[in-house]
Amino acid sequence: MKVLAFCGSLRRASMNAALLRATARLAPPGMAIDLFDGLGSLPLFNPELEADMPAAVARMHRAVERCDALLIASPEYAHGITGVLKNALDWLVSFEGFVHKPVAIFNASPRSVHADAALREILITMSARLIDTACLELPLRGRGLDEQQIAASHGGEIRDALRRFEEGVRST
Ligand SMILES: Cc1cc2nc3c(=O)[nH]c(=O)nc-3n(C[C@H](O)[C@H](O)[C@H](O)COP(=O)(O)O)c2cc1C
Repeated sequence: MKVLAFCGSLRRASMNAALLRATARLAPPGMAIDLFDGLGSLPLFNPELEADMPAAVARMHRAVERCDALLIASPEYAHGITGVLKNALDWLVSFEGFVHKPVAIFNASPRSVHADAALREILITMSARLIDTACLELPLRGRGLDEQQIAASHGGEIRDALRRFEEGVRST
């Protein structure tokens, strides 16, 4: 199973990116998780550009089309999802390859309830298949853990969520 991971933060020291890298390390046999590196290169969404799709967008579309599922981890900014993530999702609204794509959300900060709720609403509106049983909330905020430490301290919960993700994706 091929999983494409989106991180809503562009920070080099992003806790969400560290969580996704830790999760990639913990993937069970038969599952590969790739952290997409192109969200920061996407132009700002403009429907007029869709007629001649910018190369960075076409690259993301290909990656989304080729994956079996998406995994998203993103910070909350001012009670919303980040502009980086919203911009990427806006480029996927009219993309056929996104429809019914299974998606799981990993939330690294239980305080970030608004962005989590907004992201769920956006994904459902976009006809994604949200795999609720695979969504995970972990109290990582303010702890300064790197990916190795996240994998060591939360490996069991992450592995369990990935197992439920696999089951959810396969039960179509
Ligand atoms: C501009 C900005 C706005 C933020 N707004 C919120 C917020 O509304 N709620 C919240 O829980 N955290 C908020 N935060 C804190 C971030 O969620 C937190 O710093 C998180 O670690 C950032 O994720 P990252 O480490 O992956 O970059 C905000 C941070 C920034 C930079």
